[in-house]
Amino acid sequence: MVFYVKQGRLPESRHTYDDRNNLRLEELFGEESFDGAFSLLYHLHEPTRVKKFTSQSIEKEKITDEPYSHRHLKTSELGRKGTIIDGKHTILSNQRVRVQILKPERNTSDFYRNALNDMLLFVHNGSGKLVSTMGELEFAQKDYIYIPKGLTFRLENSLDSYFLIFQSKDDITLPGRYLNLYGQIKEGSPYYARDIRVPVLKKPADETGSYLVYVEFEDYFVVEERDYNPLDVEGWDGYLYPFAISTEKMAPIVGKIHMPPPVHETFSSKSMMVGTFLPRKFDFHPRSVPISYYHNNIDVDEFLFYSSGNFMSRKGIEPGSATLHVRGIIHGPQPGAIEGAIGKEGTDEVAVMIETYDHLLLTETGKKIEDPDYSMSWYQ
Ligand SMILES: [Fe+2]
Repeated sequence: MVFYVKQGRLPESRHTYDDRNNLRLEELFGEESFDGAFSLLYHLHEPTRVKKFTSQSIEKEKITDEPYSHRHLKTSELGRKGTIIDGKHTILSNQRVRVQILKPERNTSDFYRNALNDMLLFVHNGSGKLVSTMGELEFAQKDYIYIPKGLTFRLENSLDSYFLIFQSKDDITLPGRYLNLYGQIKEGSPYYARDIRVPVLKKPADETGSYLVYVEFEDYFVVEERDYNPLDVEGWDGYLYPFAISTEKMAPIVGKIHMPPPVHETFSSKSMMVGTFLPRKFDFHPRSVPISYYHNNIDVDEFLFYSSGNFMSRKGIEPGSATLHVRGIIHGPQPGAIEGAIGKEGTDEVAVMIETYDHLLLTETGKKIEDPDYSMSWYQ
């Protein structure tokens, strides 16, 4: 993503062969046509070889966004379902971004590919590995996992796994202001290149059989049936690949007085910014108010997922809670929260935020887990 990675065996030069009798088949996997980040993959078999195409419709999530208000959704109430292919609960969405919860009930040997969206997973609970054409990437609780659109993969996850997922039509990247002229993550950023884990390529699978790849579009899957194992890559190099980063490795920025959410920014796209609130010391001004002031986000909707710790500015919040604070209506600490926070030394909270530039609409699934009294929780 920001640094060059090389794995396995590669021809000496791109677009050439080393041994005419032992050709490796090169695939360019890239964003923005041929201008964006890309990697070159070398397959044993033709990646275009598909025995059969079928399609399956996906039931479209219905929107039920009225009345317009701040919301509290209890995602712990959502049930276990399916796999990464068919088990994602969409709780909020707009034209560019989907917010989902995945609590898989099983593992599958079938593969998945998202045709339209980059995916960012936050591991609220569980562990496992992402197995893709680019290798194996292990993950654990409190990791982020970035998955570029177009990657063929499957998840092998523990059965207590619980993921928060953001899908974005716009590329999810590291914030540009964290990068220097050379693309290196700068000093002063909340994480460093060394913290980013990349997949480890294993020996290529040179196997025949029946392999299904579910390619997700807006409201249907194209299902590819392949007769060679898709994990047949002998080597790859480049800048586009899945990666993971542990939030426990991140170093939150603190100040003399309360720092606003942008200092906790972790990733960004044209349609949203992603931030992470982590355990940290509070401000060192002797009279600081250590929690946020009232704020009126006139250009963004603010989504927050509470993963662990004590959430000081909110009452009635539990691990797995998600709040949505919408534009146009002011929000901030609930009554008594400021008084309760003064004098506190720090917080142990872990929470994931996105700010979206278009309004996030509530889905029917989101409605089912909504705390209906939340918008009145400031009136006491
Ligand atoms: Fe807020």
